[in-house]
Formats: sequence, structure tokens, C-alpha cells
Amino acid sequence: MRIAIGCDHGGVVLKKSILALLSERKIDVVDFGCNEGDTVDYPIYGEMVAKSVATGECDKGILMCGTGIGIGIAANKVKGIRCGVVHNKFTAKMTAEHNNANVIAMGGRIVSKGQAVKIVKAWLDAAVFEGERHINRVNMINEIESK
Ligand code: RB5
Repeated sequence: MRIAIGCDHGGVVLKKSILALLSERKIDVVDFGCNEGDTVDYPIYGEMVAKSVATGECDKGILMCGTGIGIGIAANKVKGIRCGVVHNKFTAKMTAEHNNANVIAMGGRIVSKGQAVKIVKAWLDAAVFEGERHINRVNMINEIESK
């Protein structure tokens, strides 16, 4: 599995711990930045990570900004992306199982580094998309993109 990761300055504090977790799990990573000391615009990073997942360069994406909201909104503008803004292990598990989220977004001003690692573990370890009762709803989301 290959994971795309990106953040703005509001999420940079979380990225180091998440990179350590991914390296521990021997997961390939494409790091789109930003890095400590940078002040950047979150839509750029949301788009880069989302495009990397949408094109198949990466299988999943992880995004962080101050709240997770702005960068998540940007990612969701890219066709084929289902980015869930998650705050804890429960929302991380749910967005994998119910929304088939291929990207998650978190807030560096919302969750701690330790919580962010737990969230990513919960998302990666969640049962795959439950399908069945949720597939129609995810398909309905896909249809909105083609309207
Ligand atoms: C940047 O100051 C902040 O607006 C950004 O990180 C994020 O919280 C936006 O949703």
C-alpha cells in the first residue's frame, strides 16, 4: 500500500508522528509537505494528495490542517475522492466502513499527536468498506460528481 500525506502549517505538528507510524508499518509514503516553518495555503496540499489518490499513484491519503475542515473540503473537490474529516477512532472507523473514504483529514488544533496516531491506526485497521447497505449511498455520491 502507498499513502499520500500532506498538510498545511496547522497540521504539520501531527505529520511527524503519522510518518513514524507509517514507517513502523513499512507502508510506502509520498509526502507532499508542507514542512516545519512553512506557512502555506491548505487547498494546494489537499488537491495534491487528492489527485495522487484519484490517479492511483497512491491508494489512500492523509491530510491535516488546523481543523481538518479546509483541507478536507479541497480534497473532496477532486473527482473520485471521499475525504472524511475525523476526530477520533470511532469516526475514523466509520468513514472507512460506511463511506469507503479514500482520504481522511484531521486538525492539528483539534487532536493531539497521540490521538492522530490512534485515528490513523483505526482507519487503516478498520474492516474494509461494508458495502451492501452502504454501496447505494456511496454510488449516489459518485453520481453527484457526474451531474
Ligand atoms: C490556517 O490558518 C487554517 O485556516 C487552516 O489550517 C485550516 O484550519 C482551515 O480549515
